[in-house]
Amino acid sequence: MTVTFDDNATAPADPSDSLFLRACRGERTSRPPVWFMRQAGRSLPEYRRLREGVPMLESCTRPDMVTEITLQPVRRYGVDAAIFYSDIVVPLRAVGVDVDVKPGIGPVLGHPIRSRADLDQLRPLEPGDVAFVDEAVRTLVGELGGTPLIGFAGAPFTLASYLVEGGPSKNHEVTKALMHSDPELWHELLSRVAGISSTFLDVQVRAGASAVQLFDSWAGALSAADYAKFVHPHSAEVLDSVIDVPRIHFGVGTSEFLPLMASAGADVVGVDWRLPLDEAALRVPGKPLQGNLDPALLGADWPVVEREVHRIVAEGRRAPAHIFNLGHGVLPTTDPDVLARVVETVQATGDSGSGAG
Ligand code: CP3
Repeated sequence: MTVTFDDNATAPADPSDSLFLRACRGERTSRPPVWFMRQAGRSLPEYRRLREGVPMLESCTRPDMVTEITLQPVRRYGVDAAIFYSDIVVPLRAVGVDVDVKPGIGPVLGHPIRSRADLDQLRPLEPGDVAFVDEAVRTLVGELGGTPLIGFAGAPFTLASYLVEGGPSKNHEVTKALMHSDPELWHELLSRVAGISSTFLDVQVRAGASAVQLFDSWAGALSAADYAKFVHPHSAEVLDSVIDVPRIHFGVGTSEFLPLMASAGADVVGVDWRLPLDEAALRVPGKPLQGNLDPALLGADWPVVEREVHRIVAEGRRAPAHIFNLGHGVLPTTDPDVLARVVETVQATGDSGSGAG
């Protein structure tokens, strides 16, 4: 029933005692717990083999595949948390949005949402629309034993950007034009998307996820003022709706408004690689931090990566608690053996007695 991991034999059976959840609660741990955004996925040969011939979004609706893919990095790396294998656009597709994930590109829409008539087509998510998520989370929680499962959703801005642009965007110009030209339509769009993300998280939490992460990957395209006015209330609505589990709020390029990310309702603030964690700790005092190794550096020679890992662990001690992660997701070209060595290196920092107890 319960999987035991050789290199994590001391993992408690109840995730609530895990290093990861203790750090989420702001407890200082003997070493940082470690997991990676996008740890499940294309950098793993076992993932590519399993996914052969199955489109990305279809794989997300098959609980057997979701379970296996979520467990793959836990088995391989002995990370301190699993992240549910799905995608931020899964709940959009579940309410009938014509969206597909194109390999090498990302989410692409058949019909972008740019008018009141388009928006009227976007209905709320019902838990039954994502029954396959409920089933996969329940199975996973049983399989993972003491290893916590992180549920996630896309934040309203990042999802809205895909909906409005119709696909990935460098400048987010259609999104920004809509936001400023028709604030009423903008706020209604974000409020509907916030409802969808809240329900998606709620399904995962009710099924047993131990924590959630809200991904606002593209929020860094905004000024602090626009974030505060056009986005913050909607992300706050999603984070406020989460019952009883810690909430990690992550953005890329959001260092300039980290306190706003925190005040939206984060128990843990995710930090990208641009801002050292000791500096982040000054910007959001009292908050546990997650981050922040530059994923692109994983391709450098090992001594470089090792030095970075030690720097980040040391800087993370300036926060009340630190969860080791990358500053953004694992890149497809990353060598899994390097990630394995990163995990080993982070986990060994607890053996030296150098960490505060
Ligand atoms: O982190 C994990 O391991 C869990 C799974 C996960 C996926 N997507 C699987 C996935 C998570 C948490 C996400 C979130 C997600 N999806 C975000 C937020 C995080 C981030 O990276 O900023 C965003 C912006 C998306 C949208 C999306 N989906 C993009 C940009 C892409 C990559 C497109 C490409 O091919 O370059 C996807 C596809 C996707 N989501 C893959 C995986 C494993 C790759 C699919 C494949 O195998 O081709």
